[in-house]
Amino acid sequence: MCGIVGYIGKADAASVLISGLKRLEYRGYDSAGLAVIDGDDIVVSKTPGKVAALRDRTRAEWSADRLSRPGIGIAHTRWATHGPPTEANAHPHLDQSGDIALVHNGIIENYRPLRARLEAKGHVFRSDTDTEVLAHLIGDCCKGDLFQAVCDALHQVEGTFGIAVMSAREPGKVITARRGSPILIGVGDGETLIASDASAILSHTQRVIYLDDNDIAVVTADSVDVRDLHNVPVTREIAELEFDGSAAEKGGFEHFMLKEIHEQPECLANATRGRLDHDLGSSVLAGMGTSPRELAELERVVMVGCGTSLHAALVGEYAFEDIADIHAEVHQAAEFRYRNPILGSRDFVVAISQSGETADTLAAVREARQKGAFVMSLCNVVGSTIARETGRGVYLHAGPEISVASTKAFTCQVAVLLMMALKLGRGRRYSREDGGRLAREIARIPELAAEVVRQSEHIAAIAAGYLKDEHAFFIGRGPMYPVALEGALKLKEISYIHAEGYHAAELKHGPIALLTQGTPVIAVACDIPGKDKTLGNVEECRARGARILGIITEGDDEAAEYMDESITVPRAHPLVATIPAVVALQLFAYHVARLRGCEIDQPRNLAKSVTVE
Ligand code: F6R
Repeated sequence: MCGIVGYIGKADAASVLISGLKRLEYRGYDSAGLAVIDGDDIVVSKTPGKVAALRDRTRAEWSADRLSRPGIGIAHTRWATHGPPTEANAHPHLDQSGDIALVHNGIIENYRPLRARLEAKGHVFRSDTDTEVLAHLIGDCCKGDLFQAVCDALHQVEGTFGIAVMSAREPGKVITARRGSPILIGVGDGETLIASDASAILSHTQRVIYLDDNDIAVVTADSVDVRDLHNVPVTREIAELEFDGSAAEKGGFEHFMLKEIHEQPECLANATRGRLDHDLGSSVLAGMGTSPRELAELERVVMVGCGTSLHAALVGEYAFEDIADIHAEVHQAAEFRYRNPILGSRDFVVAISQSGETADTLAAVREARQKGAFVMSLCNVVGSTIARETGRGVYLHAGPEISVASTKAFTCQVAVLLMMALKLGRGRRYSREDGGRLAREIARIPELAAEVVRQSEHIAAIAAGYLKDEHAFFIGRGPMYPVALEGALKLKEISYIHAEGYHAAELKHGPIALLTQGTPVIAVACDIPGKDKTLGNVEECRARGARILGIITEGDDEAAEYMDESITVPRAHPLVATIPAVVALQLFAYHVARLRGCEIDQPRNLAKSVTVE
């Protein structure tokens, strides 16, 4: 979603800001802009479209002197919420005087009454945005002290924000604050950076301070002073980030998505390494932070997440009930707090989020904590808000996921959920022998994924037959049902083909009406319990003229006969088999989208991390 970069130091601010914005491009955006302080003025450059267009425009319109001036600036990539992606709506926004510039992630919910109040005082607005209202409000509060003005303004707003503000009247500092939208401050050598995402600043420094909600900081080139919104100093430690420069490069692949699909064997090895105890037939997940007694006393696992992470949770639901003999539920995170969930101290709430910043999942975490449940997270991004707020959790170790469409995070989420189920199971009724068998199967996961990745060319050849289709159905049952949901999500988000995932039995309760001659049905019919029933459902589709692509188990000639064509995946434990099956569907979606000429890594309208409700 939106991205923020701020800089104050010795280098030329414009080029630092533009290269920071480039590193945020993967998050998804539709316009970009930056502002620097030049002499007594703030100068702004903004444009709809890509950061490259912003760079070209700035180079064309700004003097060489301005472009190379060391100093201070703020910049933004905007994912439109209030008003279309136009130049006027792009950030930074100025206050009424033009002396104060602001970039903002999040949503100011009460912007309408604030705007009306300011208009009554003579303020003139140039955009449709809630952000411009906040810029004017800060200006309106400013009586010569920017820090105090920002505090006063933020006390009046409802909603979420991560902001960076600067004033031509106080040119040596940037004020930054957060509530519900991440901000981190990079502490460099004679320079300080502000960002909504570490990737924007990692090439300058790996030392960062994460702001917590309602923190506000005054940042200069060599100091960071963090306070709360009542101006009381708070202590925030400096954390060291790991920097893997190769993650930001495509490494010879045409797209980040393809690279990340290919990385899965290695990521899955990282996610499982050192976490399986073959002697005890269990797993070692210290981050769960629960004693064996606490685990034994748990009554329920409640998983929350959105999108792909929600689909991983649905696989987890089968795993917890089957392996750990514990009641398991999955909730779409956006609905969780509004339905007033019944939770207690014997409920184990697992928040699943690649980014660790999804607003709805974070809100679900807060609701669960409020109600006294055990809460843990399963995040990929180290130091993300959800990881920090839950305190306990298991990192995926998938490495940075740049492609907007999630791939390696999903498979690592499933692998970690299986290990969690194993650990819980061993604390309950699962025997050492059964545990040992499952641990050995989990250890095979990296190689199972590799076997499917090696079929990329074969899958591309199959995908070539689906380029003209505008609709597709994905079906599965048991743990392959969430795999079908995930396959449909991957195809629709990157190829723009309308794709729906259904439980194989559900099709005949309505959607089968849409099947006509040649409609593609992708049947995830791996050889696990329930396969025969899925094959029966495939027959029903064939009888209506559907064209069937099967995801089937290697050597399963019986299943192959039901399909028009098939992709085979290696035989594995029914829950483990979800991983190779989904890798096949990721590759199918990728190749369909590539052959249709779609912009794969940043699909239209999508954002990598959804930080608004
Ligand atoms: C789809 C996708 C999204 C995310 C969802 C949750 O490919 O990436 O559906 O899974 O926005 O994001 P996280 O996992 O970061 O909470």
